[in-house]
Amino acid sequence: MTRPDISELNPRNIVAFIGDIFERRGAESYLGEQVTMSQHMLQGAQLAENADASDELVAAALLHDIGHYTNEFPEDALEQGIDNHHDEAGARVLERFFPSIVTDCVRHHVAAKRYLCATDGSYFGKLSDASVHTLNLQGGPMTEIEAADFAANPNLKAIVQVRYWDDEGKDPAVETPDFWHYAPLLQRVVDNHCKPAA
Ligand SMILES: [Fe+2]
Repeated sequence: MTRPDISELNPRNIVAFIGDIFERRGAESYLGEQVTMSQHMLQGAQLAENADASDELVAAALLHDIGHYTNEFPEDALEQGIDNHHDEAGARVLERFFPSIVTDCVRHHVAAKRYLCATDGSYFGKLSDASVHTLNLQGGPMTEIEAADFAANPNLKAIVQVRYWDDEGKDPAVETPDFWHYAPLLQRVVDNHCKPAA
């Protein structure tokens, strides 16, 4: 599809817009992992779907790394989000169309790794080598005060769950449906969030 400018990006075309990004950019590598970006995000969505997660959590697992592609989004949607922090940038471009439980999972998926390293003794051992490497760049495990602050987020449970799927969705042997399998689900989430107030 032709890339719409900001005035044309709306609840009717946002899902196709994201799908176009998956199709054109999905084959790019994922930070030293054995899977591509789209394999990784689709595996996250499949794990969520297999766990009978809500539409919102499947959407969050599917879109958690969309911030890696934020240069695809119209500039003024990003003006406060471009700082190379892909978690924050991803959340900012989604928040016009998706509810806060989705954008919180996207926004905090990197912090959730730092949180779990501080609070779950067995978690660090489950991280991939690439994820351990980025953990250090991302600030290492949270301090006790940071972790307590993070735990106050009302969406903590969802954020942590999406993080587990994020960590698990890195298996090159796993096959998934393509992006379009999830398009109706994404549209439901968008429609539900963007419907006019009664
Ligand atoms: Fe990820």
